[in-house]
Amino acid sequence: MSESTRVTFGTKLGILAATAGSAVGLGNVWRFPSETANGGGAIFVFIYLACVIFFGIPLVLAEFIIGRAGKANPAGAYRNLAPGKPFYFFGIFAVAAVMLISSFYMVVAGWTFDYFALALTGKLSNLTEPSAFKQIFADLANDTWRQTFWMAVSVISTAVIVGFGVKKGIESASKLMMPLLFLILLVMCVRAVTLPNAFEGLAFLFRPDLSHVTPQVFVSALGQAFFSLSLGMGCLITYASYFGPDVRLGKTAGQLAVVDTLVAVLAGMTIFSTAFSVAGTGSAEISEALSHGGPGLIFETLPQLFQALPLGQLWAALFFFLLILATITSAISLYEIGTAFLHEEFHCSRITSVILISAFTLVTGFLAAASLGGDSPLVFFGKTLFDWLDTITATWMMPIGGLFVSWFVGWYLDKKLVRSQLSNNDTTAIRFFRTYLFLLRYVAPIGIIIIFLVSLLK
Ligand code: PHE
Repeated sequence: MSESTRVTFGTKLGILAATAGSAVGLGNVWRFPSETANGGGAIFVFIYLACVIFFGIPLVLAEFIIGRAGKANPAGAYRNLAPGKPFYFFGIFAVAAVMLISSFYMVVAGWTFDYFALALTGKLSNLTEPSAFKQIFADLANDTWRQTFWMAVSVISTAVIVGFGVKKGIESASKLMMPLLFLILLVMCVRAVTLPNAFEGLAFLFRPDLSHVTPQVFVSALGQAFFSLSLGMGCLITYASYFGPDVRLGKTAGQLAVVDTLVAVLAGMTIFSTAFSVAGTGSAEISEALSHGGPGLIFETLPQLFQALPLGQLWAALFFFLLILATITSAISLYEIGTAFLHEEFHCSRITSVILISAFTLVTGFLAAASLGGDSPLVFFGKTLFDWLDTITATWMMPIGGLFVSWFVGWYLDKKLVRSQLSNNDTTAIRFFRTYLFLLRYVAPIGIIIIFLVSLLK
């Protein structure tokens, strides 16, 4: 596709909404609070912020550079920038990773729809026993067809938006959904921090306890930064291929990191204030759920907490609606990669490409959902297929993808091209160019290799 005919996002706000839509997802509302609880609270938050600044932003920028300069899906972008070189396979790797991540992400997206329906119909209210909430989740996990139904709802919603194209579909939907998400989160956060004893929860989130600093905390903070910023999967490469020539990449990367972090911190404030207020600091069950994270936190513990609040049903419904918005905007970015790939590399129409991607994720998502049922044969080496997909992508493929990006932009690409992308052809001043290159060439890859090795040893 030639440069002049390539579609671009219409407005700067649209760009921020779409990229933030990709970044803000389950990673912020579910993974960040549970990783924080695991990592000992505030100290994790500070290390996480450092990871976003020193690893996250440089890699976001690097993906933006590949995307805007390469003007194509990840595989096409690497090929355009390095014709005839094997870098093309980095792009294929990113597309493969995205297909695997979508396979379990869409299942979880389905759960959020299911829980929204449960909350609306009052099925998450008036339950006295905590075990009742565990049972509700277990019933869902054991019912492959129910999961598949709701997954299909998420797949169709995502496919329709992506089918409408970059401007009319992705940009318009993100411009509507992201502000709504932010508004709901703000309302919930204000409610949560004004609950009695909410302060205890905030102290947990913001008061550092140095005794918790272990190598593992660094590893999880870096992994979380990758997941949350949608790094290493070609999402940002694809979106940046729709950036116009006047978009300032550095500024956009900074704004993206701020919005993503803000949403994670607000979600953390909401969850911890509610937990400490409703259950008290000493509740063994809550602290167990908080520190184990996983689906339990969102789908078992939170509904139980909301139920104890006045208007609990409303809060539960609002929360799951917020989660739907967050997951669908991320799912859109996952689908757009495969769609752009099939459309540009194999000349399928956009609609055919979206249908193929949807069909693939429905089948693999069905298998992932089926692996959660009690006696499923889809369990390998003690892990369900669902968990394998999560581990393979988040722990292995994302860091490897990040390594490719830092290698390509830090070492391979002509530095004049990198500079001209960052300065929009010398029309804006760039500061910190050498620091940027240093972070990209040395700090990012060394950090990634360390997380990778430590996570293998785990
Ligand atoms: N960043 C998304 C989240 O936090 C997850 C994601 C990862 C989306 C990679 C796209 C690509 O939920």
